[in-house]
Amino acid sequence: MKICVIGTGYVGLVGSAVFANWGNKVVGVDIDEKKISKIKSGDMPIYEPGLKELVSKNIKNKHLSFTTNLAEAVKESEVIFICVGTPSGQTGAADLNAVWTVAKEIARVMNNYKVVVVKSTVPVGTNEEVERIIKGIVGEKPEFDVVSCPEFLREGYSIEDSNKTDRVVIGGKSQKGINKVKEIYAHLGAPVVECDLRSSEMIKYASNAFLATKISFINEIGQVCERAGADVINVAEGMGLDSRIGPRFLHAGLGYGGSCDPKDVEALYRTSTDQAYDFRLLRGVMEVNEQQRTHFVDRVRKYFGNLADREIACFGLAFKENTDDVRKSVAIEVIKLLRGEGVNIRAFDTVAEKNAKKELGSTGIRYVRDPYEAVKGAEALCILTEWKEFTKLDFKKIGRLLKNKVIFDGRNILEAKKMQDLGFSYFAVGRGNLSRVNGAN
Ligand code: UDX
Repeated sequence: MKICVIGTGYVGLVGSAVFANWGNKVVGVDIDEKKISKIKSGDMPIYEPGLKELVSKNIKNKHLSFTTNLAEAVKESEVIFICVGTPSGQTGAADLNAVWTVAKEIARVMNNYKVVVVKSTVPVGTNEEVERIIKGIVGEKPEFDVVSCPEFLREGYSIEDSNKTDRVVIGGKSQKGINKVKEIYAHLGAPVVECDLRSSEMIKYASNAFLATKISFINEIGQVCERAGADVINVAEGMGLDSRIGPRFLHAGLGYGGSCDPKDVEALYRTSTDQAYDFRLLRGVMEVNEQQRTHFVDRVRKYFGNLADREIACFGLAFKENTDDVRKSVAIEVIKLLRGEGVNIRAFDTVAEKNAKKELGSTGIRYVRDPYEAVKGAEALCILTEWKEFTKLDFKKIGRLLKNKVIFDGRNILEAKKMQDLGFSYFAVGRGNLSRVNGAN
């Protein structure tokens, strides 16, 4: 099938490569000329495992091309995916300007029947508005259908996720349009949820909000565990084995971040208030998420008494492991809070360092490429992102290099017993039992 993907961010770039790899003829479009020439030359604007290889393979076999010429790309395609960004505006509502602009541009150049698929995460009613905009420009002919097909890919695993998705959600008014999109995904054999446009839009928000709720729930349980002398890791394990609950997204830590979850929770809350409904549970989810980072910094401050001019090594800058993305990264937020108290930071995260520098600047922060260099002479180590690589480091050596043998593990990724055996004061999140072992908490 001939497909055009508009927007070459995470969703669009991965989407175009994956669609091409499935045997379609795909053209990726972006207004950013620099980005397009970078992609064409094999230099990916984002870090995503396997993406570079997939893009170059499909450019080589002529299944995939990139352009800034939207008109030509739309004209030669049957299905057009809108994958532009929908960032949070000042009120928390999604900023949809890019979606409206693209809808108008598509309408102006449409030459025959097209299926316009909105893949960007958009609030309820957006697809209908896209339909109205296009109709307002093209009139009766050419015919077109608007279809909603939200994206559920996790950053860091998006190529893998694309090929074994749990479900495909396709919303639309016309069966003809729905069937066209179904055809693209048919070979995966995944369950397909067919529904109306508004329900499809809501499925995406409800899913991300539920995942965020799971995280805030386990973080609240962690708060109680800390006070009651229980261990959130054991609690999550015991809960997760109940098949009705499931083990995933029950990892207590600094809270959720990233370009999707915080924005989607806020946008859903905004949708509810727009509909004159106060979604109290979501308010709590957001509050708890904020609390996790301040609670962590409170813990570090409590240990030292005063944080001014302390030298602290921070491992992790990305919003989660396996990505260079620092958008709404809790690691960045924690570093800002520590900086606000006068802490000098040695930051270690070679993958996310470049993006983090743009967010954090360099005042009071030394970006270090070697973890052992980062901890040398530092007064404590904070773990801020759940990179698996951190667990494989030589902690005996880290203990020798640190000025104080103290670790604040904001992601609960290290083995408490091992750290304690090595003589560390090991602070984790929601692990009230540690205090009874060695007085650490
Ligand atoms: C999310 C959705 O999961 C995905 O379906 C959607 O398409 C895009 O948004 P992503 O942004 O890649 O994916 O992040 P996700 O894997 O959901 O993690 C979000 C945040 O939650 C991260 O900051 C992570 O560190 C945190 N997290 C995750 C926890 O704190 N605990 C957990 O148990 C799981």
